[in-house]
Amino acid sequence: MNIAVVCGGISPERNVSLVGGLATANALEHNGHTVRIIDPAFGSDSIRTKDQILVNPSELPSSDILQLPKQRLLDCVQSSAFDGIDKAFLLIHGTNGEDGIFQALLEAKGIPYTGSKVMSSALAMNKLASKVMFSAVGIQTPIWIAAVKSKGHLDNPATIQDILEEIPGSIVIKPNDQGSTLGMSILHNPISETIYNALQLAGEYSDIVLIEEFIEGRELTVAVLGDEALPIIEIEPEGGFYDYKRKYTKGFTEYYCPADLSEDISSFVQNLAISAHHALGCTAYSRVDFRLNEDNVPYCLEVNTIPGFSSTSLVPMAAKEAGIDFNRLCEMIIELS
Ligand SMILES: Nc1ncnc2c1ncn2[C@@H]1O[C@H](COP(=O)(O)OP(=O)(O)O)[C@@H](O)[C@H]1O
Ligand SMILES: [Mg+2]
Repeated sequence: MNIAVVCGGISPERNVSLVGGLATANALEHNGHTVRIIDPAFGSDSIRTKDQILVNPSELPSSDILQLPKQRLLDCVQSSAFDGIDKAFLLIHGTNGEDGIFQALLEAKGIPYTGSKVMSSALAMNKLASKVMFSAVGIQTPIWIAAVKSKGHLDNPATIQDILEEIPGSIVIKPNDQGSTLGMSILHNPISETIYNALQLAGEYSDIVLIEEFIEGRELTVAVLGDEALPIIEIEPEGGFYDYKRKYTKGFTEYYCPADLSEDISSFVQNLAISAHHALGCTAYSRVDFRLNEDNVPYCLEVNTIPGFSSTSLVPMAAKEAGIDFNRLCEMIIELS
C-alpha cells in the first residue's frame, strides 16, 4: 500500500509526534509499504524526508510553530501531498490532529485514515464530554465541576465556593481539551486564592476548565487494540506527577507491564478500558488512562485516540508484552482501521 504517515503538526506534542512518525515510517517500510511522511505544519509543502524530522522528543516546539494558523492543515490536505495515497497513518497528538479536525478534512478529501473517526476523536479530546459519556454507561470517573469562560474570564466566585463545598480534599484543575498536562494544577490544600490562580492558568489553554477530585493512588493505562485490551501498564512518575517533562524524558518515570495487580482487578480494569473506548465510539485502537485508588477502585480519566507511538511509547510497550512487535502493531492498526 501507499501510506502517508502524518506527524508533527501544530501541537505542543509536535516533537513527540515526529519521533513516532519516524518509527512508524520505518516499520511500515519494513512491512513492504511505500511510505510518504507528511507534516501539515508545512501547509502546501508538507512532504518531509526522514532527515528533516530528527528531533528531541522532550523539547517543546518553538512558539512560532505553535502559532501557525489552522489554514496550514487545509493547505496540506488540498495540496498534492495525498495524491496516490491509499491510507493515512495519523500520528499528530492533541489539538489540530487528534481532535477530529484533520480527520474531517481527510473525510472530505476521501482519504481513508487510521484510528478513530471525526466524532469520537472530538469526544475523546473533550474531557468534559468524555466524562459525561463515561457516567452515562456506568464507568466511574472522578467527580467534577466545569467552569466555563464568559467574556474571557473564568473568575466566577460561585465556582470557587462550589468547589470548596462539593469536592472535599485535594483537587485537580485542568483545561478541558489540552493534552500533555499543560495548564494543569494539583492542589493539595486548596484555598480560594490557589483555586483562582489555577483556574486562570487552565483558562489560558481552554474555554472550559475541569475541576476534579484528586484520586490518591496508582496510575494505570490500558491500550485497546481492536476489541481487546492489552496488558495493563502502571506508571510511576518520580515525585508523583506525570507532567510533560516526566512523560517524555528518559529516567524520570518507571513503567511496569504487566502492572502488579490481582487477576480480578486486572480484568476489571481491562474491561472498563474496552467500555470507555466503545462509549466514545473509538475505532481500531486507543489508550485509556486510569487512577486506581487505595481501595482498588479504578477511575477513568480519559481516552487518548492518538497515543504516543514511538517504539518506546506505552501502546507499543503493552503490545510487546502481548507478543506483538512494533512492525506487527503498525500493520494491525492499518488492518483494524
Ligand atoms: N483526578 C485526578 N486524580 C489524580 N491524578 C490526576 C487526576 N487527573 C489528572 N491526574 C494526573 O495528571 C495526569 C494527566 O491527566 P489527564 O487527565 O490524563 O490529562 P492529559 O494526559 O490529557 O494531560 C494523569 O496521568 C494523572 O497523573
Ligand atoms: Mg492522560
